[in-house]
Amino acid sequence: MNQHHIGVTIWGLRTIPPVDAKTILDVGCGGGMCLRKLSEKYPAARLTGIDLSTTSVEATTENNADLVAAGRLTVRPMDVEKLDFPENSFDLVTAVETYFFWPHLAQDIKNVARVVAPGGLFVIIAEDSFTEKNRTQMLQQKKEHPDAATIVENDVMMHHLREAGLRPYYCRTDVLPWVAFIARKPPFP
Ligand SMILES: C[S@@+](CC[C@H](N)C(=O)[O-])C[C@H]1O[C@@H](n2cnc3c(N)ncnc32)[C@H](O)[C@@H]1O
Repeated sequence: MNQHHIGVTIWGLRTIPPVDAKTILDVGCGGGMCLRKLSEKYPAARLTGIDLSTTSVEATTENNADLVAAGRLTVRPMDVEKLDFPENSFDLVTAVETYFFWPHLAQDIKNVARVVAPGGLFVIIAEDSFTEKNRTQMLQQKKEHPDAATIVENDVMMHHLREAGLRPYYCRTDVLPWVAFIARKPPFP
């Protein structure tokens, strides 16, 4: 998983505008590669990774043992549906190649928006629905496996982010099928 997503992760993290990220959450952290990159990009930040799968939690912990030992990283099993953090906890929340699996996308985005600090960012990095290849593949997979990953159209994602009270825009590449949604929580309610 880490190797498979390294390109999209490096590209996506580069799209993030300047943010004073002292506290960072990575949702659906998988093998923990994004957290490793975040630790390098934001050397003063305290990091938290969550994942539904205990196997992923173990992999993230193992692959980032130095960060855990240094007290910079906490990894917990947790469902995006039940985020167990106080409101406004994180300056930056990332979610790489994971929203496809969230059971109630609109509500789950609201769950994440709740824990983003005012002025902070929620960044979703994923496959871009607008490439013909992704669209065709997705429709075929859904036909064969109704539980398969669901890629939403970019305007649908923008709608969900706005409905969650965030101010989003997105970046795409011309050559690769990737998209990064950058959504800021307004600094004042
Ligand atoms: C395709 S992997 C991506 C992992 C990692 N972000 C990466 O880019 O390598 C999707 C991850 O999302 C996690 N996930 C799926 N549904 C989730 C949920 N409801 N809450 C939290 N994590 C979830 C999975 O367990 C899996 O580790």
